[in-house]
Amino acid sequence: MILHHLEQEFVATPKKIVSTLKVPAAMTVPDLAEDVRKNLLNAPYSLPPKYFYDHRGSVLFDQICDTDEYYPTRTESGLLNRYCQHIIDQLQLHHIIELGSGTSRKTRHLFDACQLLNHCPVYWPFDVCEPMLLQTAHELMMQYDWLDVQPLEGDYSAGLSHLPKPDGHSLYVFLGSSIGNFTETEAIAFLKEVRQHMLAGDTLLLGIDRLKDHGVLESAYNDAQGKTAEFNLNVLSVLNHQLGADFNQAQFTHQAVFNESESQIEMYLQSRADQLINFNDLDEQLHIQDGEKILTEISRKYSFAGIGQLLQQAELEIVDHFEPSNEYFSLVLARCVE
Ligand code: SAH
Ligand code: TRP
Repeated sequence: MILHHLEQEFVATPKKIVSTLKVPAAMTVPDLAEDVRKNLLNAPYSLPPKYFYDHRGSVLFDQICDTDEYYPTRTESGLLNRYCQHIIDQLQLHHIIELGSGTSRKTRHLFDACQLLNHCPVYWPFDVCEPMLLQTAHELMMQYDWLDVQPLEGDYSAGLSHLPKPDGHSLYVFLGSSIGNFTETEAIAFLKEVRQHMLAGDTLLLGIDRLKDHGVLESAYNDAQGKTAEFNLNVLSVLNHQLGADFNQAQFTHQAVFNESESQIEMYLQSRADQLINFNDLDEQLHIQDGEKILTEISRKYSFAGIGQLLQQAELEIVDHFEPSNEYFSLVLARCVE
């Protein structure tokens, strides 16, 4: 008789991350209810963009990144793929701290370069979207078994002074042209805050979208599959879920237009009818007329000179600048002005 002996295979699985470290707000910022009362009940209607990113919003954003029209992701990814080793090689690197990390899809080029060059930094992804942070942290620890991932949950618009400041050299990473989602004044203030948080020898890697043909810009935010429209409209279901509102997505249209004088794409939700929206949890109502618009996001586009000025005003100096031959996107490595 043959005895079949089942040998259990030992598979090393990294420990699963089950919680994020909560980064407390460094300054008081309005919560969703206060933002709605302040910006959404009276014209001009607007909403801060951070509310896009519930779990569904984060998944939709990742799908936007794969559309043919949305060139920023693949352009930035190409730059990272090409120049990452060069970037990592010139740094002493103990930590990578990423602001608004999302799925960390492009950051993987940095990890690949670290692996090749025998750097072993701790990765600190910082984001408002907890489920995406947890899922990504888990995936990364499976993919890079050497990588220590410390997910940080919080709102970067509420200040950075409570972010961890780990010993050793850190590379701060801010990709996807998220800097363009701030007004210029906000962008300078934000970069100054990053700079104030940086220790001597730390660096910042920043991805910024460039000014270009308006048709190319507008199509990037009006993809044929309608993913951007879905993403934009999803913010209404965030309001429905979190504030007991009764928005009907079918009564709004996604609109993205390039405003030349402001050098920015502006994303709107335009009302298709005269409507009365109830916010049951707030005991408030929004009267919006047919054709009126809610501004949900700006995405500023910078010239090469504009990027230089932006960094200079934040007292950061450019160490390296990378761009593709069509000049569609900039990847900038910067450090504090001494
Ligand atoms: N860096 C990624 C994702 C960009 S999308 C990329 O380049 O593809 C913007 C990301 O920033 C989302 O994951 C969103 O959840 C996060 N985010 C937006 N506003 C934020 C805020 N105020 N604080 C922290 N994270 C924020
Ligand atoms: N940082 C991205 C950008 O400005 C964010 C973004 C891309 C976005 N597509 C969007 C925001 C659509 C709102 C709607 O390109």
